Amino acid sequence: SNPEKLVSRPPVVTIMGHVDHGKTSLLDAIRKTSVVSGEAGGITQHIGAYQVERDGHLISFIDTPGHEAFTAMRARGAQATDIAILVVAADDSVMPQTIESISHAKAAGVPIIVAINKIDKPGADAQKVRTNLLQHEVFVESMGGEVLDVEVSAKAGTNLDKLLEAILLQAEILDLKADPERTAEGVVIEAQLDRGRGPVATALVQAGTLKQGDIVVAGDQWGRVRALVDDKGRQLKTAGPSTPVEILGMQGTPLAGDRFAVVKDEAQAREITEYRQRLTRDKAVAKSAGQRGSLEQM
Ligand code: GTP
Ligand code: NA
Ligand code: MG
Repeated sequence: SNPEKLVSRPPVVTIMGHVDHGKTSLLDAIRKTSVVSGEAGGITQHIGAYQVERDGHLISFIDTPGHEAFTAMRARGAQATDIAILVVAADDSVMPQTIESISHAKAAGVPIIVAINKIDKPGADAQKVRTNLLQHEVFVESMGGEVLDVEVSAKAGTNLDKLLEAILLQAEILDLKADPERTAEGVVIEAQLDRGRGPVATALVQAGTLKQGDIVVAGDQWGRVRALVDDKGRQLKTAGPSTPVEILGMQGTPLAGDRFAVVKDEAQAREITEYRQRLTRDKAVAKSAGQRGSLEQM
């Protein structure tokens, strides 16, 4: 086997925090887009993945929902990331899903950068946020800790540069590397059946380079990569480490959180996915038998 040829890769940064504290707005401001305005009720209900460039450095962002119903998505977001941006609205301070996000980041062992958002608001109290964070063992620099914190306003566009600098600084410390030449693998961020395009899996490539024509297994589904599409709708020939990309050409729709990997050929893909589908069916049968059993005991 070849020795690994490690090269630098962009940081994967997950945006987390309580509902409506401004996660998507912050990403919109950084990307100069307006995703928030297209969301039903202004509530994020899925994970979005984007890449931005700053002074020649790429940063991959994963947006997560803050609504309490989406704990699993936040956990997945934290697991797939290198750095967590904890967004805390300065007029609302630390709230339940702020605390939950801290636990996910700590459980995943990823460093946190605090973005104290909405500092344009009359009721903003950035100092209160820092003090409240102490109780949850997030110690920012001015409190004697090592966690970087940046006061921002997504609305006014304040200090977005500082936030990006903090991310790049943290990424430099982490010294992130991957082997672009090994077999591609990563994680499915979200997936759905698109009426026109068929199954679409938004995936994060974590190692190797995914190519058009590759045979991919994702969870219990497989497909030949027909097209790779980036977050700006552009077709890519290849997607290297840390690239979020839409994979077209899957035979079925995998699940968010599934791992994916490139395999040798179609025969191997069929063998793996048929085995996994059988396991899934057996589990479902065992579960419904268990439910019948407990009903009979009542
Ligand atoms: P979920 O994904 O649903 O958890 O929400 P979110 O954290 O992505 O928040 P979102 O970006 O949807 O913003 C929530 C509300 O706060 C919207 O009305 C935004 O316009 C507003 N908002 C976001 N950032 C700022 C800010 O810096 N200042 C002010 N004044 N309002 C902001
Ligand atoms: Na929102
Ligand atoms: Mg959002």
